[in-house]
Amino acid sequence: MHRPLFENRRQFLSNVAMLGLAGLTGLAGCGGGGDAGGMNGGMNMGGAGLPSPGVTGSGVLRTLSVLSGNTLTAAAGRYDLGGGSRDGANLYNGLWPSPLIRLASGGVLDLTLQNQLNEPTNIHWHGLAAAPGMDGHPMEVVAAGASRRYQFPVFERPGTYWYHPHPHQMTARQVYSGLAGMLIIDDGNDARRGLPTGARDIALVLADKRVSNGALVYQPSVMDMMTGWMGNVLTVNGMAGPVTANVDAAVIRLRLLNASNSRILNPALSGGRVFWLTATDGGLLAAPVPVTSVLLAPGERIEVLLDLRNEAGQRVRLTSANFAAMGNSMMGSAPPHGSAFDVIDFVVANTAAVNPGTIPATFSPIARFDPAATTVTRVFELTEMNGMMAGQHRINGVLYNPARVDFLVRRGDQERWQFINRGMEPHPMHVHGTQFQVLSRDGSEGRRLATDFGWKDTVLVRPFESVEIALRFVVSANYVLHCHNLEHEDDGMMLNFNVV
Ligand code: C2O
Ligand code: CU
Ligand code: CU
Repeated sequence: MHRPLFENRRQFLSNVAMLGLAGLTGLAGCGGGGDAGGMNGGMNMGGAGLPSPGVTGSGVLRTLSVLSGNTLTAAAGRYDLGGGSRDGANLYNGLWPSPLIRLASGGVLDLTLQNQLNEPTNIHWHGLAAAPGMDGHPMEVVAAGASRRYQFPVFERPGTYWYHPHPHQMTARQVYSGLAGMLIIDDGNDARRGLPTGARDIALVLADKRVSNGALVYQPSVMDMMTGWMGNVLTVNGMAGPVTANVDAAVIRLRLLNASNSRILNPALSGGRVFWLTATDGGLLAAPVPVTSVLLAPGERIEVLLDLRNEAGQRVRLTSANFAAMGNSMMGSAPPHGSAFDVIDFVVANTAAVNPGTIPATFSPIARFDPAATTVTRVFELTEMNGMMAGQHRINGVLYNPARVDFLVRRGDQERWQFINRGMEPHPMHVHGTQFQVLSRDGSEGRRLATDFGWKDTVLVRPFESVEIALRFVVSANYVLHCHNLEHEDDGMMLNFNVV
């Protein structure tokens, strides 16, 4: 049974209180809904929304710490968003942001989660086809105080993936409170491919947060549940953005993860500079593609190359450029999708770089699914109802029921899935257990986005849009498919399927 939103929200709040999330002055008045207290008096923006274009950075980019050892301990911890160190986050190994996991392709993931939270949690390895029981399925949780060893072979392509908790109806809050990290699969051949490595390979975890007087706030109203919880500060590797980074006058690789609960980003460079899209969720494209902006929905990753060889002495700014408003975001209590803000300023060295690199001409071709080989077609209709009730976000008219298996998929079969968005909110649809290919948007191959030409595990389905994908599973396990707007997911926009 799906709990009504009211109980849901009460549960959020009691957990927020239990975990000490934020010095929530607004918490006492939580019964009334409405503004969560984050907008006005927010330290970075004085109520104006995300930082305005042109605001200079709050500090020099912190690089992600790489996980050492094989244990991820989830526990309450501290964070600092510029207003001093505070209690109230949940962290892996005490780190804000979460540690970067590096895996060798063809190796084995072998990591133990120790749950020192006061509630169940688990870990989902987003983008990887985990073995049975290892996927972080919403019902496969690790009780408070318990631990669990995750172990399965990693056969995915080299690329940028991530990991985060996925417990039933608690995913959004746990991710938001600091449990979300990047995971890189590496086969050691990137230098041979002509890709930047080392200090020229920069990992950026992007997530918006609602910050009030330096404190994280998570207190979704009914309206916020409709839009998803959106922040007034974009964090970059856990720092309140925008930030700065010193780089060589060379070709630079960025790995971008949108770990926001619901905000869609639109990475772009200052001055309308062209940059090169090289990889999507499931690794490298067939060749770099020139772009001036790329929509990046929650859950998605991209890798891009910036050509800074002729930019010595310049400041090149990565922004999230504005884009046509999607959804009814204005109804929430934070700046809507599509507003522009700065992310990071690259301060380029004054002198020419040694070995500045090049933009590679090609990578390896991607074998495309042959649509004629489809054995099964499935349609998923995405709806939301704008009434003041729980469970607005549904797939094929139903809410997620953990006890119900919604469909079975035969391992090895090539399937064609169609997502049809019947509403006015964008839904980044995510499938566990495989990588897929996008066949068309609104029935047209020509309407596909630049990111649609790579392997994907999450695809943005815009208001009233339909998207067709082709996919095949090679691991038999119990998986889910859901909207990666995490408030929508927790509201019920998820289905179970078993690969048999
Ligand atoms: Cu990144 Cu099912 O999630
Ligand atoms: Cu996933
Ligand atoms: Cu959604």
